[in-house]
Amino acid sequence: MRDMDRILVLKWVFMVLGCGFFVGVSFAAYTPVDRYLIACGSSKNVTFSSQTYVSDSAESSVTLKSQGNSFVASSNSSVPLPVLQSARVFTNTTYYKFDIKEEGRHWVRLYLYPLSNTGHDLKSASVTVVTEDFVLLNNFSFSDYNGTYLMREFLINVTADTLSIAFIPSNNSIGFVNAIEVVSLPNELLPDQAQALSSFAPISGLSELAFETVYRLNMGGPLITAQNDTLGRTWVNDEKYLHVNSSAVNISASPAIIEYRDALTPEIAPNSVYATAETMGDSNVADSNFNMTWVLPVDPEFSYLVRVHFCDIYSKSLNTLVFTVYINSYIALPSLDLSSLLGKLNTPYYKDFIINSSANSDTLTVSVGPDPSAELAAAILNGLEVMKISNEAKSLDGHDAVANLLLKSSKKKKIGLIVGCAAGASAALLLIGLCYCCLLTRQSKTPNQGNSWLPLPLYGNSLTLTKGSTVSQKSGTASCISLASSNLGRFFTFQEIMEATNKFDESSLLGVGGFGRVYQGTLEDGTKVAVKRGNPRSEQGLAEFRTEIEMLSKLRHRHLVSLIGYCDERSEMVLVYEYMANGPLRSHLYGSDLPPLSWKQRLEICIGAARGLHYLHTGAAQSIIHRDVKTTNILLDENFVAKVADFGLSKAGPALDQTHVSTAVKGSFGYLDPEYFRRQQLTEKSDVYSFGVVLMEVLCTRPALNPVLPREQVNIAEWAMAWQKKGMLDEIMDKNLVGNVNSASLKKYGETAEKCLADYGVDRPSMGDVLWNLEYALQLEETSSALMEPEDNSTNHIPGIPMTPLEPFDNSVSMIEGRNSGTDDDAEDGATSAVFSQLVNPRGR
Ligand SMILES: *[C@@H]1O[C@H](CO)[C@@H](O)[C@H](O)[C@H]1NC(C)=O
Ligand SMILES: *[C@@H]1O[C@H](CO)[C@@H](O)[C@H](O)[C@H]1NC(C)=O
Ligand SMILES: *[C@@H]1O[C@H](CO)[C@@H](O)[C@H](O)[C@H]1NC(C)=O
Ligand SMILES: *[C@@H]1O[C@H](CO)[C@@H](O)[C@H](O)[C@H]1NC(C)=O
Ligand SMILES: *[C@@H]1O[C@H](CO)[C@@H](O)[C@H](O)[C@H]1NC(C)=O
Ligand SMILES: *[C@@H]1O[C@H](CO)[C@@H](O)[C@H](O)[C@H]1NC(C)=O
Ligand SMILES: *[C@@H]1O[C@H](CO)[C@@H](O)[C@H](O)[C@H]1NC(C)=O
Ligand SMILES: *[C@@H]1O[C@H](CO)[C@@H](O)[C@H](O)[C@H]1NC(C)=O
Ligand SMILES: *[C@@H]1O[C@H](CO)[C@@H](O)[C@H](O)[C@H]1NC(C)=O
Ligand SMILES: *[C@@H]1O[C@H](CO)[C@@H](O)[C@H](O)[C@H]1NC(C)=O
Ligand SMILES: *[C@@H]1O[C@H](CO)[C@@H](O)[C@H](O)[C@H]1NC(C)=O
Ligand SMILES: *[C@@H]1O[C@H](CO)[C@@H](O)[C@H](O)[C@H]1NC(C)=O
Repeated sequence: MRDMDRILVLKWVFMVLGCGFFVGVSFAAYTPVDRYLIACGSSKNVTFSSQTYVSDSAESSVTLKSQGNSFVASSNSSVPLPVLQSARVFTNTTYYKFDIKEEGRHWVRLYLYPLSNTGHDLKSASVTVVTEDFVLLNNFSFSDYNGTYLMREFLINVTADTLSIAFIPSNNSIGFVNAIEVVSLPNELLPDQAQALSSFAPISGLSELAFETVYRLNMGGPLITAQNDTLGRTWVNDEKYLHVNSSAVNISASPAIIEYRDALTPEIAPNSVYATAETMGDSNVADSNFNMTWVLPVDPEFSYLVRVHFCDIYSKSLNTLVFTVYINSYIALPSLDLSSLLGKLNTPYYKDFIINSSANSDTLTVSVGPDPSAELAAAILNGLEVMKISNEAKSLDGHDAVANLLLKSSKKKKIGLIVGCAAGASAALLLIGLCYCCLLTRQSKTPNQGNSWLPLPLYGNSLTLTKGSTVSQKSGTASCISLASSNLGRFFTFQEIMEATNKFDESSLLGVGGFGRVYQGTLEDGTKVAVKRGNPRSEQGLAEFRTEIEMLSKLRHRHLVSLIGYCDERSEMVLVYEYMANGPLRSHLYGSDLPPLSWKQRLEICIGAARGLHYLHTGAAQSIIHRDVKTTNILLDENFVAKVADFGLSKAGPALDQTHVSTAVKGSFGYLDPEYFRRQQLTEKSDVYSFGVVLMEVLCTRPALNPVLPREQVNIAEWAMAWQKKGMLDEIMDKNLVGNVNSASLKKYGETAEKCLADYGVDRPSMGDVLWNLEYALQLEETSSALMEPEDNSTNHIPGIPMTPLEPFDNSVSMIEGRNSGTDDDAEDGATSAVFSQLVNPRGR
């Protein structure tokens, strides 16, 4: 069992890092290998806006084959685009066959315009367009179309050395086409997996599907035509989709200031898209809490890929903009904080989501609105793309599969060749991405049981396979946590890591722990980072490495330490985090010479940490239990903003129908929930208990456990609770605070801590309630200090009780599988100002 487990872990790490590596490879200025711009039926090449469309009879790599007659139609009356001047008209199924030099994703763009005065009634013609595998258009006719011309853009994965596009005239009448583009694109543009909104699990297998661009919006900006986009895309202004015009105000910056980083290049979106945005209108109004909403009509029978583009061209400084993104009333990105993700303004960021067809609405709404907790009521959106995803019939239009449509048109024969080819491909077993575990059996042509996502694994989890395959999933592993979309941050080469840390110079060592050592580093652009270097020999280190990546790649919050990137070269496991200049909270409480924190600072730090934990418990679809909340795992940045760190022990919370997770007891003595210890059942309330210990520690500035003290004082939870119950908490609090604390604020704080430390989980408040109470305590403190009110009388002061000695010593002990192994690892942490404290001792884990 144990070996099995290790193999799975290794596979997983390989997979995550492998995928990450793949994503990390940047693509330089892109030139498509295959690039066909075809002017159908034209006698000459058509050049406009510096693009040349070659006549379909002049292009040798394109062959035209018609089962009926094909005519050329052209008109000299004015047309919307020069390339629409001519068309090829046909009476029976007609194939355009393109030689493909490079397999992979290709754009297929179709232009249709019903030319008048050609001798054919193109307006009532009805066209169906299919490739070998996918239906692109089904029975399209201009007689019920309002636009002047049709331009449809599709994205298909070509897996052969030719691409056939068949035009099938419906009704045995005529069909036509004016222009076709087939252009390859960087495969990185569209990932194999994206996060599903309904389940918050990633869906993979996208590389086997076809897409159609439905909307591509340049928020707050002008029309960007194919000539201004490196991939020939068109971006249109968003204004007509705004739900309330006045809710949004456009802003713009010079495109030159947009700074692409890592794998995000202008191929994702040109800088002119990122240089304009919609921001919230009248954000100075008292009730600034509203959303900007775009309403986009869509066909409800399809699923969609939604890509949101952001670039903070709005903020004057970092860390001011925090907002939430909703898609169809799902919270897609809670508390999106671009500053902490990117560490820079004017840096593009995007994220993909999949919204299922089951959404029974014929509109798709995208909203952005400020975070209730944000200092600034503002939100921003720079770009939005919506792509329709082919359904189980492999169609982007209707429910007919390719074979049906071809059979319908010509009552047999010939198409046998095409169908055979498609079926052959279907039979193949495919390797999806680099995921060794996720072998997908491609569905055959038989209709699936109504589930539009059957061809895909429901969860992208490496341990979860699609139907039909078997997997033994070790019970008790964090199976519900899945690898979020490949957004694992930046990929660093080992050379870069060496340079950043001055070859792991011991003078830059910040701390040592079970996983390995933590160094301070500086990236070449001057960004300070904390570099955690794993010990490859440690099996448990691998598991924690995995958990940490899983957790952090999924979670983004202002009050959680963020992962900047990682490195997996030369069998190194290196994680790079944002640098937290002020180190762990504990070193500001005791065991160092740092100046004492004021009461207000302490409250703000506790509120920050509570927010982080509240988000863990409630922010994602499945709650996450941190399991090792303590003052060394709460880190402070240069502005003393608190962030929760170290997710190495974190665990997915109980599923909806369960009340707890049964698990071996892990954590640190002194912070351990006694109920969890007794019953080995983990709930969010275990974190609440540990947080109660933190609150007491912050107030009393002494370690959670201090064995040199008299027996009744050893455990802070027992000791402080005794005083709190007597209403005399001020007797044991930090003497630096005496006289500088509003008594009502202290009272509220004491009550909150007391509730957190209740013996039974059910009696403890939720993190949300704790947060609310702490905010209230802060409010009491702020009002009193604003009024300069020296009210300090609601608690009694009995002189003569000695202050607790401030020992820089802590006996945190880790528990492993119910056994304990004493360690004084944390004592070292306390002495150094470790940015990354380790939870427990390597021997212990
Ligand atoms: C059209 O362009 C193609 C390729 O650029 C060229 O081979 C061909 O001669 C051109 N035809 C005409 C009529 O200019
Ligand atoms: C357009 O073509 C028609 C014949 O198809 C011709 O009679 C007419 O003069 C042409 N007009 C122009 C402006 O070339
Ligand atoms: C199909 O043909 C019928 C009669 O022949 C006609 O009424 C109908 O409009 C045609 N449909 C299309 C899409 O052209
Ligand atoms: C094609 O569309 C026309 C109307 O545009 C409709 O009358 C006809 O039934 C459709 N044909 C098929 C096969 O769906
Ligand atoms: C398109 O025309 C149809 C009638 O043919 C009408 O019902 C519909 O509202 C029009 N759509 C738009 C966007 O104008
Ligand atoms: C295209 O499909 C093939 C086979 O399904 C797959 O191996 C490849 O990764 C896909 N390419 C892209 C860019 O999705
Ligand atoms: C931006 O807003 C201004 C004023 O509302 C408007 O005049 C301008 O056209 C807008 N620009 C774009 C690109 O929408
Ligand atoms: C598009 O490119 C042209 C030059 O190639 C430039 O003059 C124009 O400003 C660009 N438009 C936008 C919206 O960037
Ligand atoms: C909203 O903006 C659109 C496009 O500019 C305009 O057509 C529409 O009248 C505006 N609506 C309101 C209520 O201002
Ligand atoms: C913003 O939109 C989301 C989703 O529709 C909704 O849940 C939320 O309450 C809205 N916020 C405000 C302030 O209206
Ligand atoms: C279309 O082609 C097929 C196969 O060659 C033939 O059976 C059918 O009769 C043709 N239909 C028309 C209308 O020409
Ligand atoms: C606290 O002081 C206020 C006046 O500042 C007084 O009204 C109140 O009774 C005092 N409370 C106690 C418990 O002494």
